[in-house]
Amino acid sequence: MNKNLRKAVIAGNWKMNMDRKGAEKLINELKPIAADKTCGVVICVPYTDLETALRLTEGTNIAVGAENCHFKKSGAFTGEIAADMLKEMGVEYVIIGHSERRQYFAETDLTVNRRVKAALAAGLKVILCVGEMLSEREDGITEDVVELQTVAAFTGISAEDAKNVIIAYEPVWAIGTGKTATAEQAEEVCAFIRGVVAKRYDQAIADGMTIQYGGSMNEKNAAELLAKENIDGGLIGGASLVAEKFGVLLAEASK
Ligand code: PGA
Repeated sequence: MNKNLRKAVIAGNWKMNMDRKGAEKLINELKPIAADKTCGVVICVPYTDLETALRLTEGTNIAVGAENCHFKKSGAFTGEIAADMLKEMGVEYVIIGHSERRQYFAETDLTVNRRVKAALAAGLKVILCVGEMLSEREDGITEDVVELQTVAAFTGISAEDAKNVIIAYEPVWAIGTGKTATAEQAEEVCAFIRGVVAKRYDQAIADGMTIQYGGSMNEKNAAELLAKENIDGGLIGGASLVAEKFGVLLAEASK
């Protein structure tokens, strides 16, 4: 089965949650739960928790990611963080193009592409988010939207660099709403995205690429979603903030 050609990765996206104390508690609870799991384990945390997360996860199987980065190497960009700064700290992953950045912070396909390039050039692994809004699904243009977002994000990215990208398919209407895409809907779009990657690169790159589902994935619906051929893990918001819940997802993805 092609699913064996790629690694399932469960990545937490803490968003703007967890002060330092909360982060310490959650990570300390998570460590023993994650220790025997075979899937990839990533926690993407606010910038202010990165140092705590890196310190506490040292020598464990938990990798640390940031939730965004800027596309310039340095300069007059007040409030921004460069990819090299993250890399220097020891950060391994960065989420790029999350729908909340696209919706609330004027992120576009062009700036997503710039950020992906900058992150890969810095040696970071990218979790690239794509997904349609409810109105786009209702208009029947889901595939057009995710194809455009995917093709734009990979513009100018070599096949070798593309191997350091995970795609997270996150239908915007399912994020933080408790409304999950059905396993069939999620599988359909993840399979479509794999086809887009195959067209852009080749089948081997597409078969090897981890494609996650994200959007209200939790301890109850994870098994069904993760059993699907083209769903290789998840990008998890709410359920990543509770160690036991996140642990269930890790266990499911390790089966
Ligand atoms: P959710 O968030 O699991 O809380 O829906 C997922 C995400 O935004 O990455």
